[in-house]
Amino acid sequence: MTARLIDLEVLAGALSAAAWLAAAGCVAARRRRSAAALAAVAVLAFLARIGLVAALGRAGWWFVEEKLTVTLPLAAVTAVAAGAAALTARRWTALALAVAGYAAAAGPVLALFAGYPPGWGTGLVTAGAVGLAGVVTRRAAGHRSRRAPLVWLLALAPVVLGAAVAVPPPASADDGGHGVPVSSVRGPDPGTAAASGIPVRRFTLTARTATVTLGSGRRVEAWTFDGRVPGPALEVTQGDLVVVTLRNADIAAGVTLHWHGYDVPAGEDGVAGMTQEAVRPGESFEYRFRADQTGTYWYHTHEASDRAVRLGLYGTLVVRPRAAAGGADLTLPLHTFGTVLAVGDRDLPVTHFVAPGTPVRLRVVNTDDGPHRLTLTAPFRLVAVDGTDLNGPGVLERVAIRLPAGARADVAITAGVTPVALQVDDGRATVRLAPAADTPAPPPVGTAAWPTLDQTRYGTPAPTPLDAQSRFDRRFTMVLDRGVTLADGLPKYAFTVNGRAYPYVTTQTVRAGDLVHLTIVNRGRDTHPMHLHGHHVLALRYNGRPFTGSPLWMDTFDVQPGEVWEVGLRADNPGVWMNHCHNLKHAAKGMAVHLAYAGYHPASHHAHGA
Ligand code: C2O
Ligand code: CU
Repeated sequence: MTARLIDLEVLAGALSAAAWLAAAGCVAARRRRSAAALAAVAVLAFLARIGLVAALGRAGWWFVEEKLTVTLPLAAVTAVAAGAAALTARRWTALALAVAGYAAAAGPVLALFAGYPPGWGTGLVTAGAVGLAGVVTRRAAGHRSRRAPLVWLLALAPVVLGAAVAVPPPASADDGGHGVPVSSVRGPDPGTAAASGIPVRRFTLTARTATVTLGSGRRVEAWTFDGRVPGPALEVTQGDLVVVTLRNADIAAGVTLHWHGYDVPAGEDGVAGMTQEAVRPGESFEYRFRADQTGTYWYHTHEASDRAVRLGLYGTLVVRPRAAAGGADLTLPLHTFGTVLAVGDRDLPVTHFVAPGTPVRLRVVNTDDGPHRLTLTAPFRLVAVDGTDLNGPGVLERVAIRLPAGARADVAITAGVTPVALQVDDGRATVRLAPAADTPAPPPVGTAAWPTLDQTRYGTPAPTPLDAQSRFDRRFTMVLDRGVTLADGLPKYAFTVNGRAYPYVTTQTVRAGDLVHLTIVNRGRDTHPMHLHGHHVLALRYNGRPFTGSPLWMDTFDVQPGEVWEVGLRADNPGVWMNHCHNLKHAAKGMAVHLAYAGYHPASHHAHGA
């Protein structure tokens, strides 16, 4: 709804601009009747904008600020001036109508190209640019005057001044050098752990390029762990000390291991340039952490991750409780290779044989940049989200689960005498559970019309250590958008947080023990799967409404266009953490920020992080 209003307001602004400009053209061509009709259209479109902005304002000030402070006043003033010119100073009418057109066009232009918040600089640049366009038009229409230099100066000054104000400071707020470097916040020493009876599980993962053959025989040039895509499935038991040696054979870009969704000590987090340097060819790095949380997670490189994860540098991590549940337990990482969607390394439907009556847990992991849609052709329960079990999840039927980029969903189903299918994206990929090899495959089920599960009210409430009413120590708002801003030292059309691109986004600073409230607002037209490292956040409110079902602890959640999410967390894992969009293309183009504990600093000043 909000997203629709945003688009309509942009369209109304464009219509208004086009009508004003056409009216100006008609006046110049002495077609006064058409001019009057077009001006009427422009005014109506302007009134429509006011109505749309009023409706949008109900979703939050973030969605209307630049309209109320800059673009609507500008459009109103210039429209009144055009009317006055038409009534009194006829020879200025065409120019005044054109300026009204430029002012109306500023609405869509700012909405699409300027990040939030607008600020003085943006207002000055906009007003100046409209004036400048008027001066240029006047000149093009053949006007000459002795005062021309003054007019140019008057028009240019606000643009230059505004641009100077709008440029963000050159560095992020992370201070260098003081306190504890995150690279020193490490997991337990394996020798000591073993001596005190803690089981130690060792793995070695070697990053290297390889040609991988998918189930259909399709060959892909991949970046792999151990020559496989996905990398080896790491399966451990709760309480184990996990020790993973990462080696890099020939990935020139460098590699790391980030434990997505696993709240490891900061120095084990694998963010190149921040918690460690990337591991270069021939080098290695040892990661170690206690497997305290059960559930479904994944690992991936965090250096050049947009490209590297897409090419295959990822795998799954599953931590099972000591007393393992019976039944079948399948881990299903989804990944798109080029245009084909694969489950694991299988890009054709896969069938698993399970005796009727067997409880089955399917752990679905989305390793892509965009969401997937999961449907099951028999009743099921959604039993865990992002590794955490839900409380009292009810039976679901003919309903789809939206799985954001980076997120995990565990579903439980009981195998029957007839085959059951898990369909991804309504059949782009299929996993079947069948009782025996000779069971004929059932025809695909059309699931495209099934509604999506509303996770704000699924399952049963339970006590939580914080809630929407808690007294929060720190509150941060992240307004997600696109806009022209400084990125890597140059103005770019970046993905922005609060109008800025990484690393210029102001760091979120917390103290150990703080209760932290995050409001995430999507003003843009793309979905942003937001991912905070090192912590799980509790979902509090969605578009202002509370979550009323099972507590929902997440590490990655989709903020769709026009949505407002409020989440809370306890700052209980000291370090400096990435808080970023897990559409890794967006992260690479600026949509990332640091959440830093006071007294900790990144291991490197050249944090690129994404
Ligand atoms: Cu799964 Cu910062 O990433
Ligand atoms: Cu994004």
